[in-house]
Amino acid sequence: ALRGSFATKAQKENQSHQYHLQPQATFKVAILGAAGGIGQPLALLVKMSPLVSALHLYDIANVKGVAADLSHCNTPSQVLDFTGPSELGNCLKGVNVVVIPAGVPRKPGMTRDDLFNINAGIVKNLIEAVADNCPDAFIHIISNPVNSTVPIAAEILKQKGVYDPKKLFGVTTLDVVRANTFVAQKKNLKLIDVDVPVVGGHAGITILPLLSRTKPSVSFTDEEIQELTVRIQNAGTEVVEAKAGAGSATLSMAYAAARFVESSLRALDGDGDVYECTYVQSDLTELPFFASRVKLGRDGVEAVISSDLQGLTEYEQKALEALKPELTASIEKGIAFTQKQT
Ligand code: NAD
Ligand code: LMR
Repeated sequence: ALRGSFATKAQKENQSHQYHLQPQATFKVAILGAAGGIGQPLALLVKMSPLVSALHLYDIANVKGVAADLSHCNTPSQVLDFTGPSELGNCLKGVNVVVIPAGVPRKPGMTRDDLFNINAGIVKNLIEAVADNCPDAFIHIISNPVNSTVPIAAEILKQKGVYDPKKLFGVTTLDVVRANTFVAQKKNLKLIDVDVPVVGGHAGITILPLLSRTKPSVSFTDEEIQELTVRIQNAGTEVVEAKAGAGSATLSMAYAAARFVESSLRALDGDGDVYECTYVQSDLTELPFFASRVKLGRDGVEAVISSDLQGLTEYEQKALEALKPELTASIEKGIAFTQKQT
C-alpha cells in the first residue's frame, strides 16, 4: 500500500477507510550517528514514515541543526536531538527501534575490516547504552565491519544479561537493493518486480547473491552470473572509489536502511507478511552469524528462511564454502575484542 507521505491526495483518500479501521501506529525510532553521511538522509526518510511518532537523533556533534531543520517537515513525527554521552540515555528511553550508523567510513584502498579498530569501540559503547536503556528494542547495526560489529553487539548484550538474538540485526539491505538494481538493468526487467536474496555477510566475497533464486525466475549465462556476482560484491568499493576519499555509500545506504526500518515497524505493527535479508544469529550453517532471508514479526526474527540455501547451483555452493573462513574469522575477531575488554 502507498502509506508514505509521497502518496497523492486521491491515493490517500482511497486508503482512508483502512486507517479508520486500523489507526496509525506510533513507534519511536532512534538514530545514533544521525549527523553523519548516512544519518542525515536516513533521518529524513524515517521522518516521512506514517508509522513513526518520535524520531530521536543522537550524535557526538552537529545534531542540533539537523534536528531543527528536519523538524520543519510537516509529517507527524516529533524530532528530538541529543548530543554527547550525557544525553544518550534519554535518547534511548522508550524507543522501539535503534539504528546505528555511527563510525568512520572507508577511503579508497581500505577494506571494511580496516575500520575495526575505531568502529568496534564506538559500537561497544553505544550498545552498552542500548542495553541499559532500551533492551527490548530492535537494534539495526550499520557500522562496519558489520561481520564483526554484530557479534560484538551480541557479546555486549550477553554481558549485560539482555541479549535477545531475535532483535539484533546487521543491516545488509543495501546488498539486496544493489542486486535488484543490477539484475533488473542487465535483464531489462521492471525494477519493482525483481527480488534477489543475498546471504552470507557484508564484505567482499562474504556477500553472496543467490541469483538462481531471483524472482521472477530469470535465466543467466555463466558469464552473467560471474559478472553480476562480482559487481554486487564490489559495489561498496565502486562507490568508495567514485567518492575518492569523501566517504562511502550514504544515499543508497540511507534508502536501504529506511526500507529495513519500515519493514521492522510494519512487523511491530502486526503485519504478518514481512521478509528481509539480514545478518543475524543463525543456525542455517555452522557459522553462528549468517545473513539470509528472515520473517520479521512483533518479537523480531520469527523464522530464518532455510529454503534459500537448499538446491544451490554449483557456483553458489562453491561460493558459500569459500566465504566461510573469512566470515568465521570476522565473527571470532569481534568476539575476541569483547573478551579483551572485560
Ligand atoms: P560519516 O563519517 O559521514 O558519519 C558517521 C557519524 O557517526 C558522524 O556524524 C560522527 O560524528 C558519528 N559518530 C562517531 N562516533 C560516534 C559515537 N561514539 N556516537 C555517536 N555518533 C558517532 O560516516 P557514514 O558515511 O555515515 O558511515 C557510517 C558507517 O556506516 C561507516 O562505518 C560505514 O562503513 C558504514 N556503512 C555501512 C553500510 C552497510 O551496508 N551496512 C553501508 C554504508 C556505510
Ligand atoms: C557499502 O557496502 O557500501 C558499505 O559497507 C560501505 C563500504 O565501505 O563499502
